[in-house]
Amino acid sequence: MSISGLDKDTTERLRLRTAMIERIGGYMTSHALGVIADLGLADLIKDDVRGSDELAAETGADEPSLRRVLRLLAAVGITTEPEPARFGLTEVGALLRTDSPDSLRAFTRVFCSPMWFTAWQGLGPAVATGDLAFDQAKGSDFYTALAADTEFSALFHDAMGEESRVAAGRVAAAYDFSRVTKVIDLGGGDGTLLATVLTAHPHLHGTVFDSPNGVADAPAVLHKAGVADRCEVQPGDFFQDIPQDGDLYIIKSVFQDWNDEDALALLRSCRARLPESATLLIVGTVLPETADSGQAVAYFTDVNMMVMAGGRERTEPEFRAMLSATGFTVQSVQIGAAGPLSMIQATPSAAR
Ligand SMILES: C[S@@+](CC[C@H](N)C(=O)[O-])C[C@H]1O[C@@H](n2cnc3c(N)ncnc32)[C@H](O)[C@@H]1O
Repeated sequence: MSISGLDKDTTERLRLRTAMIERIGGYMTSHALGVIADLGLADLIKDDVRGSDELAAETGADEPSLRRVLRLLAAVGITTEPEPARFGLTEVGALLRTDSPDSLRAFTRVFCSPMWFTAWQGLGPAVATGDLAFDQAKGSDFYTALAADTEFSALFHDAMGEESRVAAGRVAAAYDFSRVTKVIDLGGGDGTLLATVLTAHPHLHGTVFDSPNGVADAPAVLHKAGVADRCEVQPGDFFQDIPQDGDLYIIKSVFQDWNDEDALALLRSCRARLPESATLLIVGTVLPETADSGQAVAYFTDVNMMVMAGGRERTEPEFRAMLSATGFTVQSVQIGAAGPLSMIQATPSAAR
């Protein structure tokens, strides 16, 4: 459709320029999202339409500034403004409500936090040198910084739990647990995945294994799900010590945190400690061989890992090569089975 009064060529040029400028403004949207997630505005708006004056009064914000941020978010499909200075939530915006079953509020607060923005400012130097932006900005690696900040650590693991909710249901449905007795979730964080799997399969027992701060909220999550009596919580370092009493070891959204050297070390640690009859189930992104414009989230994660942790997403051949080099045999690769994540099943190769 042409813009009124403009010829077709100018309309098309404007369309392209607008598309580019909207992408350039992505970081402005991220900052605005971080602000309203921190303020908890979606919890105040709920299904209602609220005046920016009321919202400012309830959060102690400056009304004219808040109103302009809410208008920006209306323009990108997060809020609505049915009457001047009165705001509701779109279906997407409602994901910022804490009480939404698919809430991404903690996820938004983490990915739109000063810690993230500071590290991402180092993207240019990181691309120039290959150095790790987070470490350059913060003077330590990501997980060391996380361990030193109890409040942000709790938010981060909450965010990971939110990210896992849909995938957890997909794993519980897609994997055949009928011959499994005990599931160990390595790097299992707050236990969201295992809680979902154990709820769906009452014959299973499990262990959530993660760093001490990683498992801090797991007892509460497992208790809330009603599976605490079938699930242990074990703090530890998966490079050094992995529980040996499982028959299925799930490792979800973990390998992308690590560079190849560390990812191989983690697989070697698994190979050395998993029972010979156990199965390793890697749940995560498997990148296509060439960039897929329909999978922006996978590439956000890939570059995010480059910035924050020096890790990366990997293709199927890259996963196969790493598993083969560390003594595993790939049994199946199910692309998108834990949509949008994939599932790779591998077993210890026969000793050579
Ligand atoms: C990106 S999060 C994924 C968490 C969870 N599997 C999920 O999908 O929501 C990576 C997890 O690995 C854990 N982790 C990092 N280093 C670890 C280590 N050395 N030993 C055990 N867990 C570790 C982190 O604490 C974090 O919970």
